[in-house]
Amino acid sequence: MLLIHNISLLQTPVGNESLRGEAQGENRKYRNASVLIDGETICAVAENGAIPPCPPDTMRLDARGAFVTPGWVDAHTHLVFGGWRQHEIPLKLRGAGYIEILQSGGGILDTVRQTRALGEDALFSRAWGFLDEQLRFGVTTTEIKSGYGLDLENECKQLRVIRRLKDEHAMDIVATCMAAHAVPPEFAGRTEAYVDYVCEIILPRVAKEHLAHYCDVFCETGVFSVEQSRRVLETARALGMGLKIHADEIDALGGALLAGELGAVSAEHLIATDDAGISALSAGHVIACLLPQTSLYLNKGFARAREMIVRNVAVCVASDFNPGSCPSLNLQLSANLAYLRYRMTPEETLTALTLNAACAIGLGNRLGSIEPGKQADLTLWNADGMELLCYRMGTNQVKAVVKRGKVVVG
Ligand code: NIG
Ligand code: FE
Repeated sequence: MLLIHNISLLQTPVGNESLRGEAQGENRKYRNASVLIDGETICAVAENGAIPPCPPDTMRLDARGAFVTPGWVDAHTHLVFGGWRQHEIPLKLRGAGYIEILQSGGGILDTVRQTRALGEDALFSRAWGFLDEQLRFGVTTTEIKSGYGLDLENECKQLRVIRRLKDEHAMDIVATCMAAHAVPPEFAGRTEAYVDYVCEIILPRVAKEHLAHYCDVFCETGVFSVEQSRRVLETARALGMGLKIHADEIDALGGALLAGELGAVSAEHLIATDDAGISALSAGHVIACLLPQTSLYLNKGFARAREMIVRNVAVCVASDFNPGSCPSLNLQLSANLAYLRYRMTPEETLTALTLNAACAIGLGNRLGSIEPGKQADLTLWNADGMELLCYRMGTNQVKAVVKRGKVVVG
């Protein structure tokens, strides 16, 4: 057993389900707290200086007054890739659009070339370093999408790398197949034919080999239409996968409406989502997965998080880590922007980064809160609470990280 004691404040959302509306801002706060862990599982939380009854040989970890939250969950990344795309920033600053760069063969397609060129081992070791870095930033679980292969061989290659990472790294990992991320050069000008290929060849193989839990699609003007996205997602659903959708990142094309209609677990980005889109997310109980660092890198507006919360949409905040529109995997920066630009409260922000994020990847029963029975994933912070954590920017505020009951950082 492990006892973490001398915690000045322990703050956590409560439950196994995503929290929406006012409930998103309700965190349980334990002052002068301690947590007892049995193996990988939390067995008790005590407050006001009390210590849960524990056997004499219990190991003790002195938190030395740290602020403690559940380990953070990054519910949206594209973490397995080759290369970077820093050369796009001058183009963007001169006015080139994200989709314009993609349509001229750059953007995602640039990364597809660089990812296809790498073998599994090279992709694996690069991604391994990113996972280590996430842990150091207080993130203990991550979702990872494919989508830089865009053919059977290379999508499966990326997904096999994700599976190996999941098997071997301390981090909990959830895989998403995003073969419908862009139209590869072999299918240039034949988007419908590529959608057929995704539905008839890639997704059935991915399902057969259990390479992904979720399917995602980039529903955007100039990429995949609402109808094409629907076809991909309905195929994935019939194959037993959960649904996600990159919706309304640039235009309000109808991705949020589609997410609501199909009952997707989450809709991502939602920068341009209109009132009808917000209503559809609310009615369909779709989690809004918001990615504020991408707004920053694309010089775009910020999603309407406050209206979403007021209108009963559960909001999750993630990084979108990828080599183009968000080269940062520091989820603390997403917290800063959620507070400053989305105007979410520190409590709403914590729920967004923990329980709602865990629910967005189907792990709310096991992760996302500090309660008896949940997995012992905890982050100890050099701060006195969420308010300071959301306020300070650019410094890694992690003091230590406990993953499955073991100290992995600190
Ligand atoms: O979520 N929008 C599509 N996909 C990613 C970016 C991927 C890339 O630019 O490489 C996103 O922003
Ligand atoms: Fe993304």
